[in-house]
Amino acid sequence: MVDIKWEELGFSYIKTPYRFIAHWRDGAWDEGTLTEDNQLHISEGSPALHYGQQCFEGLKAYRRKDGKINLFRPDQNSQRMNRSARRLLMPMVPEELFLKGVKETVKANEEYVPPYGSGATLYIRPLLIGVGDNIGVHPATEYIFLVFCMPVGAYFKGGLTPTNFIVSEYDRAAPKGTGADKVGGNYAASLMPGKLAHERHFSDCIYLDPETHTKIEEVGSANFFGITAENQFVTPKSPSILPSITKYSLLQLAEECLGMAVVEGDCPIDELDRFVEAGACGTAAAISPIGGIQNGEDFHVFYSETEVGPVTQRLYDELIGIQFGDIEAPDGWIQVIEV
Ligand code: PLP
Ligand code: COI
Repeated sequence: MVDIKWEELGFSYIKTPYRFIAHWRDGAWDEGTLTEDNQLHISEGSPALHYGQQCFEGLKAYRRKDGKINLFRPDQNSQRMNRSARRLLMPMVPEELFLKGVKETVKANEEYVPPYGSGATLYIRPLLIGVGDNIGVHPATEYIFLVFCMPVGAYFKGGLTPTNFIVSEYDRAAPKGTGADKVGGNYAASLMPGKLAHERHFSDCIYLDPETHTKIEEVGSANFFGITAENQFVTPKSPSILPSITKYSLLQLAEECLGMAVVEGDCPIDELDRFVEAGACGTAAAISPIGGIQNGEDFHVFYSETEVGPVTQRLYDELIGIQFGDIEAPDGWIQVIEV
């Protein structure tokens, strides 16, 4: 047994024994292999290093009560990785190779999948990078697909206790840029605003739409949702936010299981009092209630700064119940890894 205090885990890098690596050369992927080496040896000219020709994914493995392991909608991560790849002129990673990489990595590191009931999960990070000798602004001639993983706890320190967020003056993405793709450049742009938010003791930034700066776009690492007094689940619709798999799952669960009206639409930043509850949702964030949002001089509190709201709690119970295998999932959402 590995010696990890599962309940105390945050969201930090831990070197697990195995990772999966595949190479794309001469127009084709090799079959990929597991390796114990967590260092990459790549050309100094690699376009991933200079011009950000890279994309990544994030998904989790959940230990079930019966000891088996659930993957939550990994096909959706595969499809999103291929949309990101297409945008940056990188080769598609066939879904079969993507799933093989994810499943082999989880199986090989099985003892790092946290126990059921610990609250922790195994975070899986697939990565696609352009490598090889290059100096001009051109796509790479060779690519690496890598999958590694580590056990994690809550991304935002509060877990299900609300935390506060601050509206950023900066943009993470341009109106017709790469905001909808999971590419490193978006996150590079978010580092400084994120640091400014942390320095003021906020969990993260809320970005506004880059065109008018009047509507909530998303959090730096998760999508935004609000609950209205009329029991509507509302989440921003914008071409420059990351299409969160968690968010689309919640839209479906809110409608089908909680009987809520669901709306993907505008969330003007000066109409926060529409919402009686608000939250951030994503793979790492899971569902993290938002206590309040600082916008310039104004601080708007939603349900409470200390207690999760009842609708957010019900959404959380439904989603987490499905992910850990305690509640039956909609068709195709769960892939079980037998161990
Ligand atoms: N928005 C951003 C910027 C993210 O980094 C993430 C994390 O993946 C999300 C939203 C949530 O997406 P998902 O639910 O697919 O993890
Ligand atoms: C995720 O939720 O998977 C993310 O990628 C968010 C963050 C760690 C960048």
